[in-house]
Amino acid sequence: MTQKVRKAVLPVAGLGTRFLPATKATPKEMLTVVDKPIIQYVVEEALAAGIEEFVFVTGRGKSAIENHFDKPYELVDMLERKGKLKELAAVTEILPENTKLFYTRQGAPLGLGHAIYQARSVIGDEPFAVLLPDDIIYDDSENALSKMIDVHSQTGSNVVLTMNVPQDRTQNYGVIDIQNEQVENGKVQAHGFVEKPKPEDAPSTLAVTGRYVFNASIFDELAQTKPGHGGEIQLTDAMDSLLQKEDFYGYILKGERFDCGDKFGFQQANLYFALKDEFIGPKLKEYIQTISTSDVFKNVKCA
Ligand code: G1P
Repeated sequence: MTQKVRKAVLPVAGLGTRFLPATKATPKEMLTVVDKPIIQYVVEEALAAGIEEFVFVTGRGKSAIENHFDKPYELVDMLERKGKLKELAAVTEILPENTKLFYTRQGAPLGLGHAIYQARSVIGDEPFAVLLPDDIIYDDSENALSKMIDVHSQTGSNVVLTMNVPQDRTQNYGVIDIQNEQVENGKVQAHGFVEKPKPEDAPSTLAVTGRYVFNASIFDELAQTKPGHGGEIQLTDAMDSLLQKEDFYGYILKGERFDCGDKFGFQQANLYFALKDEFIGPKLKEYIQTISTSDVFKNVKCA
């Protein structure tokens, strides 16, 4: 019987230099997509997949994340007194009562693998999820993490979320070697992982996106992982070495993935979720129609 996945690690120590000056005093995870910070989308996705305990691996200047998930007593008191019930719900209903949050610091920027390792003592000896908060994953019809957890509970294997990327983009991702395996029931067996290979060296175009379900045995591999790509301790290298001992599956992403660590992906996410919003969606649709005939639109040069 496999243990239920109920804990998740969210590495949030990254500096967000691609968003300067916005991220000079604000964590990149707190940048808003419509009316919620990016991190809240990711936490909500994890909650919907059954996660009850969160380990945030943080760094300096990230206390706004802690504050965001805390109970703002003064604000609650004021909203109650003024009878602002909708606003009250927006600040008090972020987390169910039984949710537990832990914060630990990475200390030094030694890579994603090193960040995840910091959560070892809080996770203990049970399977867990990892969600990279740069990625917002969204699908109306299914929760990808929940499906990955199903694959873990049926097989006991490790699972990563994956999607096809253009060949010339492989050097931005961890890439899966699938050899001759076929996709079955939305999943494919992995035979190797390579961090950010050049297109000519990439074993496939199946990129690892920001969701993982691991057995606790990944920590033994992380403990021994030497610096790899970019001189950092890479999660991908620990996965590749665990693969010698345990099975890994890639679960194929069906929905949307917005790379909010990148200005373009961040704008895409804002546009997508704003269009889905019942209040501003119709106005935004009209505005897009108007602006698409204007000079500012016509003057955009496409490659
Ligand atoms: C990280 C991982 C990489 C993965 C990517 C997904 O890279 O190291 O394997 O494919 O996230 O977004 P980063 O984007 O932090 O450079």
